[in-house]
Amino acid sequence: MKAANATTGSTGGPARILVVGSGGREHALAWRLAREAGVERVLAAPGSDAIGAEPRVTCFPAVAATDVAALTGLARREGVGLVVIGPEGPLAAGLADALVVAGIPTFGPSAAAARIETSKAFCREVAAEAGVRTARGRAFEAPGPALALARELVAAPRSPGVVIKADGLAGGKGVTVCDDLPAAERALAAVFAAGGERPGPRVVVEERLVGREASLIALADGQTALALPAARDHKRLLDADRGPNTGGMGAYSPLPDLPESLAAALVETVHRPILAALARRGSPFRGALYAGLILTDRGPVLLECNARFGDPEAQVLLPRLALPLAPLLLAAARGGLAGAAAGLGLHGPLLPTTDDAAVAVVLAAAGYPEAPRPGDRIDGLGAGAARRALVFHAGTGRDPDGTYRTRGGRVLAVVGLGHDLAAARRRAERAAGAITFAGLQRRHDIAADLPPEVTRAPAGAGGLAAGSGR
Ligand code: AMP
Ligand code: GLY
Repeated sequence: MKAANATTGSTGGPARILVVGSGGREHALAWRLAREAGVERVLAAPGSDAIGAEPRVTCFPAVAATDVAALTGLARREGVGLVVIGPEGPLAAGLADALVVAGIPTFGPSAAAARIETSKAFCREVAAEAGVRTARGRAFEAPGPALALARELVAAPRSPGVVIKADGLAGGKGVTVCDDLPAAERALAAVFAAGGERPGPRVVVEERLVGREASLIALADGQTALALPAARDHKRLLDADRGPNTGGMGAYSPLPDLPESLAAALVETVHRPILAALARRGSPFRGALYAGLILTDRGPVLLECNARFGDPEAQVLLPRLALPLAPLLLAAARGGLAGAAAGLGLHGPLLPTTDDAAVAVVLAAAGYPEAPRPGDRIDGLGAGAARRALVFHAGTGRDPDGTYRTRGGRVLAVVGLGHDLAAARRRAERAAGAITFAGLQRRHDIAADLPPEVTRAPAGAGGLAAGSGR
């Protein structure tokens, strides 16, 4: 509670907040936090030209997101009352650990707790301990036994294939979904060829599951979890889920096939048991616990955990949140979410949302994902900022004359809001269509993957049953 007066705003939330990162997710965080009552200033490090153009936001472009010492110094010097860590890199680098030692409230887990994302083997271990259902599979240190399991899984009756996951952070490139054994052999060879000798598991081999995916992200304070609405990311580059995997080409929320009753059950059967397991291990998780799920015809199964908000999920979720975010993030950082929820009169583990649906369409640079080309001039940004549309910058830079140019793989996320998904989608499409740059790549089927009549709950609406898994 040190320096509470200097760092706490009139609403009990933090007056000065430091957002760490520079992408579209961090733009959405800064945009959202800077417009909340009680927040006097948002600092962003390094931030971006577009983030710095938001009212009440100041960027520190010379401070890298993984420069733990510089960020800790900046937070101290600037009297920051809360640090919100966007990407996984700084978490893995121990930024949250250093900030907590410095006495600065931090939304983002310790490096030890962030292993739930940074090691797929660790994630499976914790899920098993927590009784959370995952795909059948195992972690391996050597290629021989890994290949043997892949062979067994591919040979199973009606097997759709096998999934090979490199252990450790791979920037979304570590997972290969294989149709057959030769593909699995190639993926395993690639994992074991990369990187040098290191102890511990190198790869996870899993049965391939079939179903729609969903992201359910909860604010967590080590024990209590309060979930944002469910969202769905579109990971493949091209329409109809073709082409290579990307960081995410679009997202939408809510999900007609993941009703609130199921979301609430998932918080109880996935997030809370995982938080409890991490706490028992002495690594309480404070931050955004992201469950990546697949909705199979036998019920939901956990595919992965992330230790942060999703990108572009955050861009559709943050505009839909009906409560001020800053006090909730601070409560999570301080271990006080249960008290905050009671104070807000919340019943159950779901955060209230506005009546809006949201659809985000990502505009990506020429050459993405392999070799994104920088420097293309972006036109139509003014027209893109239409009524009920938001433009979050993921990878842009601004010339001295105000012209924005591409600078990164995913360039923009254009979000449409509307009374239902169809209306939100129309707004996103119209706004995205107004923006042009050379080599622009985008999908035209975001949020169009569900037939309108799909409103029934998927199988297993009682939550995610423990069992199977091993
Ligand atoms: P992950 O990082 O583990 O979520 O994997 C990235 C993507 O790979 C997921 O979003 C899924 O599309 C796919 N994936 C991962 N595990 C499986 C699995 N067991 N079955 C089918 N697809 C999977
Ligand atoms: N959109 C997926 C992720 O943030 O990991």
